[in-house]
Amino acid sequence: MSAITLSTLRAMKKRGEKFATLTAYDASFASILERAGIDVILVGDSLGMVVQGYSTTVPVTIDETIYHTRCVRQGSRNTLLMADMPFMSDATPELALANAARLMKEGGAQVVKLEGGRVIVDTVRLLSERGIPVCGHLGLLPQSINKLGSYRIQGRDEASAQRLLEEAKLLEQAGADLLLLECVPAALMKAVCVQSTVPVIGIGAGGDCDSQVLVLYDLLGITPGKRPRFSKNFLEDASSVEAAVAEYARQVKAGEFPAAEQIIA
Ligand code: KIV
Repeated sequence: MSAITLSTLRAMKKRGEKFATLTAYDASFASILERAGIDVILVGDSLGMVVQGYSTTVPVTIDETIYHTRCVRQGSRNTLLMADMPFMSDATPELALANAARLMKEGGAQVVKLEGGRVIVDTVRLLSERGIPVCGHLGLLPQSINKLGSYRIQGRDEASAQRLLEEAKLLEQAGADLLLLECVPAALMKAVCVQSTVPVIGIGAGGDCDSQVLVLYDLLGITPGKRPRFSKNFLEDASSVEAAVAEYARQVKAGEFPAAEQIIA
């Protein structure tokens, strides 16, 4: 298997081919994901909730993210490795530069993901100018949960949808290599994907984009509490974890996931 790079993803977008993204936090699962055909592994700060047991992603630290990113790199050498910049590890462009460099040098990340729109544009520009690939995360921003009050769909009204479209454009102009949209209406996702020249990944945002991402533990049905409506338990009908992940990858690439019941209009 040849290594997947950003060029691979750009070429896939040009050809209209979808790629599969999934979270992982350790070497064993990472090697399963790589064998099962996942193209991009995200070391999400969801690790705070599904691995560490916190109720939000806010407590996750940069040292913890580096540790888990290094573990994932050990298990997957050829899959593109993206890591989250945890809450406030990107509070200023200079701090973000230092922490993103650590994620790459110490953790082996190839892309860093930052939550935010207009407010992170200068940071994205600086990182991009210094050779750090960036994914801009728009829509529902879990790191802002204490301000938002609840996890809910974003961009429902005309003004906020317009703002999100503008912010997606600004992030791309600042040098973002990927965009990720979480929990926005399917029509808004489609509009962002059409306007963007970079690959766009979705979660809870409909199927009209270049990739889907899920939290691995949701896909395996082992996240405590209620599974998000946009997610699906792939282990239910599979004979092994690898078969479940392979079926997810197949369905994403074939445009079968998300299906109508997972799409929020
Ligand atoms: O932290 C995470 O796992 C994420 C995904 C839900 C997109 O950011």
